[in-house]
Amino acid sequence: MANILVIDDEPGIRSVLRDIFEDESYNVFDAGDGIRGLEMLESEIIHLVVLDVWLPNIGGIDVLKKIKEDYPEIEVIIISGHANIDLAVKAVKLGAFDFLEKPLSLDKILTLARNATAMNALKTENKKLKSSVISEETMIGESEPIRLIKQTINQSAGSDAKILITGDNGTGKELVARDIHRKSQRNTKPFIEVNCAAIPDTLIESELFGHEKGAFTGALSQRRGKFESADGGTLFLDEVADMSLSAQAKVLRVIQEMRFERVGSEETRKVDVRIIAATNKDIHQEIADGNFREDLYFRLNVVPIHVPPLSDRRGDIPLLIEYFIQEMHKTENITASEFSPEAIDMLIDYSWPGNVRELKNFIERVTIMSEEDVISVETASKFLGSSEEKQEKIINPLIEKFSDMKLSEARDEFERMLLLQKLEENEYNITRAAQSLGIYPSNLHGKIKKFDIEIKK
Ligand SMILES: Nc1ncnc2c1ncn2[C@@H]1O[C@H](COP(=O)(O)OP(=O)(O)OP(=O)(O)O)[C@@H](O)[C@H]1O
Ligand SMILES: [Mg+2]
Repeated sequence: MANILVIDDEPGIRSVLRDIFEDESYNVFDAGDGIRGLEMLESEIIHLVVLDVWLPNIGGIDVLKKIKEDYPEIEVIIISGHANIDLAVKAVKLGAFDFLEKPLSLDKILTLARNATAMNALKTENKKLKSSVISEETMIGESEPIRLIKQTINQSAGSDAKILITGDNGTGKELVARDIHRKSQRNTKPFIEVNCAAIPDTLIESELFGHEKGAFTGALSQRRGKFESADGGTLFLDEVADMSLSAQAKVLRVIQEMRFERVGSEETRKVDVRIIAATNKDIHQEIADGNFREDLYFRLNVVPIHVPPLSDRRGDIPLLIEYFIQEMHKTENITASEFSPEAIDMLIDYSWPGNVRELKNFIERVTIMSEEDVISVETASKFLGSSEEKQEKIINPLIEKFSDMKLSEARDEFERMLLLQKLEENEYNITRAAQSLGIYPSNLHGKIKKFDIEIKK
């Protein structure tokens, strides 16, 4: 059933509308002013807004504009007093579904609500169809590993089994996840992606489970989390091994019970979400190092899918090249239609450290930059070279080890390495090692403890 948000400053109107909508089994939310109303749109999934045009703080027209900008598929019914009828007319011009004059006819408002929610459902359906056409990315490849992956996808898509996708950068893990969703019964519901590596540890809980206003500094308004947004659909936990242990513990509980609380709330919410996770790390190593919970691994790894590096399926390279060229022709005005046989041979032999993503970027670059109809091996190697050069951009090889770390991590790692070196040089004599580092022995003791350095006797 549809969710309706009533925004009106008169408590009487809010409660009457709540009653009649609830009688028709809509879910009703309400807000006494526009700011609160817009906040509710962030925290709840709303299909229809019933909006008073005359409001304190920000006026109804501005609220409407904001809604149409941020949530174009939400329908808005305007209610207005006789005195503000010109505003109501303006609102309709700005995209409101219709308006009603106070005193409200309950019959009329119910009819309008029915029509507006039907319209909303149509729009959503339409948007979904469109996006499925646009993002219909095919998984290219006829090699044995890709054939097996496609088979696993087809076998497991229909169930709700959790899936763990492993593989190096750019091998196509996300593509696999989207394909599973598309082939599942959940494909009319959202596919929500969370990049666990990109969210700071302190925010991950609120990102996943949502929060109440004031739950922590910076939580200015209420917000729903990714689990709620994915309700009925699929939640893709990308880079799952980059989650902190404490976040892992919480996720474990939620995927076991499918219930959770928003940060700062006691209210337990239930969702129905299918989980697909992915990582480019060696998950067994992460478990052995104590960075990843084994119990969570067992939960997620019901159906394992490993996507091998491109260098393990070189036979697919010509197919991928052809496919990416065709894709380019759909959107760009390019001349190139193919590569020469020598160029293809060279591309088959190339190492492709960035896997399919690197191949795709390469094709995009060459076809845009080159005017050849058949791209020669010389041109191809010129563009390949430039991508390798990029990988050699690291100015000081000493820094390479640190270049993926945050400053604080790099600093710690450097300190740890230096301590180890000095301790080794001084045969683990603390006093001498401390002297060579220019610090007090007590200070060195502290650091040895902090970095958990093993003292060899
Ligand atoms: N088999 C394939 N057929 C067609 N396109 C592919 C294939 N594999 C990957 N791609 C394309 O290559 C790009 C990288 O794929 P994707 O984002 O799925 O990789 P990933 O494994 O998630 O990478 P990362 O670990 O860096 O996040 C995407 O544009 C994707 O569409
Ligand atoms: Mg990815």
